[in-house]
Amino acid sequence: MDPFTLINKFYTPGTKLYQVLIEHSRIVTEKSLEIADTLPHLKPDIEFIRTAAMLHDIGIFLTRADSIGCRGTVPYICHGYLGRNLLDEQGLPPEYGLVCERHTGAGITRENILVNKLPLPPRDMVPISIEEKIICVADKYHSKNPLYADKKMTPPQIIAELEKIHPDHAKRFSIWAEEFNL
Ligand SMILES: [Fe+2]
Repeated sequence: MDPFTLINKFYTPGTKLYQVLIEHSRIVTEKSLEIADTLPHLKPDIEFIRTAAMLHDIGIFLTRADSIGCRGTVPYICHGYLGRNLLDEQGLPPEYGLVCERHTGAGITRENILVNKLPLPPRDMVPISIEEKIICVADKYHSKNPLYADKKMTPPQIIAELEKIHPDHAKRFSIWAEEFNL
């Protein structure tokens, strides 16, 4: 499946948002494939990663994030599960939507959603499959924010940033970084 068929259904080529989404998604896809290449013993599905990584942020246009041209109505943190809803509605196999839902932060637990009263459905949104973990990790290396777009993060920097959100995020990322030899 060509991810651009779907992306072009919801985003307009030539707009700032399209450019931000495509550039970020390409970088994340490349990084995901680079990580997957080093993990043949875990047998990641390369073709799935190639498409799912391009689609992981497809829900961002439904949220409000002025700095990158998102003119939706709901908080940015909702882009993961809204992306899942969208891919499910488009008839994709559920694995694609789960990548969207589980990639924000280092995944978000149900407990974290409830304790912090996050505007998300109360369920575990933590990566489980090897492909979900790889794409979630790869996503942390690059920011969509134009202020940081040229900056590539290192694992220690990513861990420090995740620590600010919640120590559990940093812990999960650290475990995966070790598992993937990052
Ligand atoms: Fe992303």
